[in-house]
Amino acid sequence: MKALRVSICALLALAAMTVASAQDTPPAPGTPTYAKDVSRIMQEKCADCHHPNGIGPFSLLTYRQTKGWAEMIKEVVSDRRMPPWHADPAVGKYRNDRRLTDGEIQTIVKWADGGRPMGNEADLPAPIKYSEDWRIPGPDMVFELPQEQSIEPSGVVPYREIEIPTNFTEDKWLQAIEARASNPKVVHHIIVFVRAPQMESGERQDFQRLGRGFLVGFAPGVIPTVLPEGHAVKVPKGSSLIFQMHYTPTGKHEVDRSQLGINFAKQPPAREVITATTINGDFTIPAGDPNYRVVADNILPDNAILYSMTPHMHYRGKSYEYIAHYPDGKSETLLRVPNYDFNWQTSYILETPARLPKGTRIETIAHFDNSAANKANPDPTKPVRWGEQTWEEMMIGWMNMSWETPGNQTASAGGATIGAGAR
Ligand code: HEC
Repeated sequence: MKALRVSICALLALAAMTVASAQDTPPAPGTPTYAKDVSRIMQEKCADCHHPNGIGPFSLLTYRQTKGWAEMIKEVVSDRRMPPWHADPAVGKYRNDRRLTDGEIQTIVKWADGGRPMGNEADLPAPIKYSEDWRIPGPDMVFELPQEQSIEPSGVVPYREIEIPTNFTEDKWLQAIEARASNPKVVHHIIVFVRAPQMESGERQDFQRLGRGFLVGFAPGVIPTVLPEGHAVKVPKGSSLIFQMHYTPTGKHEVDRSQLGINFAKQPPAREVITATTINGDFTIPAGDPNYRVVADNILPDNAILYSMTPHMHYRGKSYEYIAHYPDGKSETLLRVPNYDFNWQTSYILETPARLPKGTRIETIAHFDNSAANKANPDPTKPVRWGEQTWEEMMIGWMNMSWETPGNQTASAGGATIGAGAR
């Protein structure tokens, strides 16, 4: 489906190129140039994904590349399909928000319509170097799938769960974590969980709910975890790592041997970083229902700082919202995604992390569209329940948070200002 869409785009762009080359004329004065204007927008807002080893289907690093795609670029930026972003701009500010300003869109449109001039090459910004390598600083340790995975050209590939022992003989604290697909074409997502030898029980552990800790994910648009000084993720001794691999066939036989890279913290941190969830696995979306509501909540057992939110549903996912209900009775919307798109598992990283006091109830509200009007819907005639495959559904609100490590009071979150920094 996705591959097909890309190749249609490629065909259109090719057609656009042939037409355009016949009408290349010197640019009118005042036309934006690639060297001065467009190149900078591409670097800042596009190239992170559109570089040779990125998740975008082609590169937008050079004049030739950008010129060749100009018509298509004009179209996708004008209807704001690119860069992908699905949060309501009226709620919250997010650090990874790559949306173009109206001015940037105008610049691209004028350049595309005005003969796509290079301009003065001396105006070009220094090129960005994209490493084909790790995005975290030289990992201290790399875990690799024990065998190469083979993926057939078509059909349904159930999730594969592959367990790798860490052989850690003491508790370890991780400062940077990156899951890396060796073959990004075929990897829909990777989630790495930590399975501790015996899960401790208690309020804090129960809060995380899944019975195993989420460590890191890889999917289009997901950024590797690099934590600031004094913050780290705990991996208890004797844990193993579970790689949950979701492969989607590409039409060709593919192989993959994905990896996880980690950096250790130099000393035990003041704050433990966790991935918490709201989760509701008990719902049935009626056949044909265009707007079925499912809610989930979770109450903070301690003061915490919230960094990012990642809504997760499948093809019927329509909208998703996070609301904090504070102990003093006030409420605040932290994130609203009015047009959820399963192709983009975006993490919304708060510009200013939010301090949430103990007792805050985080409520998440999902709506699902199981009608024929939802073009992504694989089958509007069937009721849908929780399940791992994309034609089944999920309702998860991932949250990246931190709280004090017990016994270390140096970075106290006590006396948190309610909701401060949530916008
Ligand atoms: C977060 C990653 C990401 C960013 C940032 C991004 N793209 Fe894309 N882009 C993709 C992916 C992946 C595709 C493949 C199509 C799909 O899956 O929707 C794509 C497809 C495209 C297409 C092909 C048309 C289509 O609908 O498939 C164009 C043109 C494009 N991008 C231009 C841009 C421009 C211009 C920018 C910056 C203003 C940009 N992209 C930013 C990931 C990205």
